[in-house]
Amino acid sequence: MSALVAAAPSRPVADGATQEFSFGTADFERVRALIYQRAGISLHAGKQAMVYSRLSRRLRETGHRSFGSYLQWLEMASGLSGEQEWQEFVNCLTTNLTAFFREEHHFHAFAEDLKARGTSNPRIWCNAASTGEEPYSIAMTVAEALGSGSGARIVASDIDTKVLATAGRGVYPADSRGLSAERQRRHCLRGTGANAGFLRIKPELAKMIEFRSHNLMAAQWSLGEPFDFVFCRNVMIYFDAPTQKRVLERIHAVMKPHGLLYVGHSENFTDSRALFRLRGKTIYERV
Ligand SMILES: C[S@@+](CC[C@H](N)C(=O)[O-])C[C@H]1O[C@@H](n2cnc3c(N)ncnc32)[C@H](O)[C@@H]1O
Repeated sequence: MSALVAAAPSRPVADGATQEFSFGTADFERVRALIYQRAGISLHAGKQAMVYSRLSRRLRETGHRSFGSYLQWLEMASGLSGEQEWQEFVNCLTTNLTAFFREEHHFHAFAEDLKARGTSNPRIWCNAASTGEEPYSIAMTVAEALGSGSGARIVASDIDTKVLATAGRGVYPADSRGLSAERQRRHCLRGTGANAGFLRIKPELAKMIEFRSHNLMAAQWSLGEPFDFVFCRNVMIYFDAPTQKRVLERIHAVMKPHGLLYVGHSENFTDSRALFRLRGKTIYERV
């Protein structure tokens, strides 16, 4: 890691103010090692400014005056409050960009796959569910393909507890990207009064989904019965190759034979032929 972010506290930040906390290469390296150990996330050298801005808020909230002091405190933290601070640290450093029906071709293929499988109660796992747009898009597709009375179950998980709380509320701005007017009418309740401009996902759709915290790096995965379909999209890009391989092996182990895995547009697992066979554009069949 070569680049130095700011050895001195006087480095100007984007808005022209002086930098509030000193943040040098050693601090960045420490953050980088910690988030890799905890979440498998590999931060490259260009991410110093992002780390500074995301963690500065946490330093302020916890009353620390330097990154060194905060990181030392974090590493010493133990018990429940320690776990809570580690969770805050992770929540600060995840990137949660998502949208309804993102990479829409997957949902067309998924609808066809659902019908072709002929099972009325598929088990589906969305494992980097972020703020919920993805699992709700999955639930909408299930309802449209199999009817609202199907016994489909969706486990929607993420490492970030803050985004999961948003997901669990199921409330989104009415102008959210990716949600057509037809789907808004069919699957959402429109807010009125103080809630004007917002949509709530209908309860019959929301009840298909169980939201839970799950770290793809966790030693133990207890996710219940094997899955027919797994969505693992736009999370592996944050992992290095050995981590991706390990996670892929574990996903393989929690899927049914011939189950389908949907991955992000820049994720490619064609090297893992013993586990997954390419079935379509970024869609793999479990061997
Ligand atoms: C860019 S979002 C992708 C959201 C969604 N899958 C999509 O494609 O729109 C990446 C998500 O992966 C989650 N994530 C990162 N590391 C993780 C880990 N080790 N275990 C589980 N989720 C993780 C982040 O919290 C974030 O919400």
